[in-house]
Amino acid sequence: MTVPMAAPPDINRRFLLAARPNDLPDASHFTIEEAPVPVPGAGELLVRVLIAALSPWQGQRLKDFENYTVPFAIGELIDCDVLGQVVDGTVGNFAPGDLVTGRLGWQEYALARPEALLPATPEFEDTLWLTALSSPGLTAYCAMEMFGRPMPRQTLVVTSAAGSVGSYAVQLGKLSGMKVVGIAGGPEKCRVVTEGLGADSCLDHKTPNLAGRLREICQEGVHLFFDTVGGAVGDAVFEALAKSAKVLIVGRTISNNSARPDLDPVNMRMLWAREASIQCFSRYSYPERWAFARERMMDLCRDGKIVAIDNIIDGFEKTPAALGSMLAGEYTGKVMVRFAEAER
Ligand SMILES: NC(=O)c1ccc[n+]([C@@H]2O[C@H](COP(=O)([O-])OP(=O)(O)OC[C@H]3O[C@@H](n4cnc5c(N)ncnc54)[C@H](OP(=O)(O)O)[C@@H]3O)[C@@H](O)[C@H]2O)c1
Repeated sequence: MTVPMAAPPDINRRFLLAARPNDLPDASHFTIEEAPVPVPGAGELLVRVLIAALSPWQGQRLKDFENYTVPFAIGELIDCDVLGQVVDGTVGNFAPGDLVTGRLGWQEYALARPEALLPATPEFEDTLWLTALSSPGLTAYCAMEMFGRPMPRQTLVVTSAAGSVGSYAVQLGKLSGMKVVGIAGGPEKCRVVTEGLGADSCLDHKTPNLAGRLREICQEGVHLFFDTVGGAVGDAVFEALAKSAKVLIVGRTISNNSARPDLDPVNMRMLWAREASIQCFSRYSYPERWAFARERMMDLCRDGKIVAIDNIIDGFEKTPAALGSMLAGEYTGKVMVRFAEAER
């Protein structure tokens, strides 16, 4: 349904990479480019960005070393998933007023072709379109469904269990009847994992003798390990694996922001001893599963079976600082920045 939209301003603001951070990014690593708001051509829509999702892969793309993503070039727009609203153009199934998601980045207005967008609706809270119904929720869903194959009563361990992806892995494990043990940074995050997400228990990764504590809690061994962190924490979980365990590698937060492979050791001895199998998963390899996963996660959200933990920061200018804080592990759940309110 077409909604009459206010005319866009003359000037569009976009965050471009100005310098590569050695450690965490802050405002000094970006410039704000001001340019006229673009006018949609044939087959294009003008979309106002409402909410930008911040993700660890943005941090790794600020650096210049090989990873599963390509580094941003100096002067390039910072890319990310956003929720937006069509303000000009009627193409395909989209018209002014429609809510959409897409990879439109840190800019206030963007041109987009309809095939690069997915519809969002007011049925769910705006932020849910960037959490449970976007990369974090769909990554967890696809990895668990395709490769985790959760079995009731078996034990699942999830690292970064209070994080964006991990929080959905915890909930999907519980929905499958698994015993779920989270690992998170600090007592407050652990409380969220047990009380908010329903995990059976949660260990602080700073706990001395993490492997020993895991073996006490998981006496039958860890059957499925959903890992987004790696490093010493991942290796501690390997010490508690059950025979023929599955290790699902979905991220390597420990080494995302560094070219140092020594930060990310792998305890091959325990993998061998337990005859464990490793499956690495990247959402980019399975685009054909995305629509199905989105529908299933929508059903689970409708039924109130999935909760989203998120943080929303108001103000376009605050985006670089919010990314730095997120990469420092200061937040629980997904971090998003609101650039504008939707017109309704
Ligand atoms: N395979 C895929 O398709 C796919 C898709 C999305 C994301 N990912 C990857 O999955 C991982 C998690 O992504 P996410 O969006 O869910 O992020 P996230 O877990 O919400 O955020 C990062 C969290 O990592 C934890 N962490 C662990 N070690 C850390 C360290 N050395 N320094 C700082 N923080 C540390 C912190 O939580 P604690 O305080 O609890 O430790 C922090 O809050 C990332 O590595 C990302 O690249 C992969």
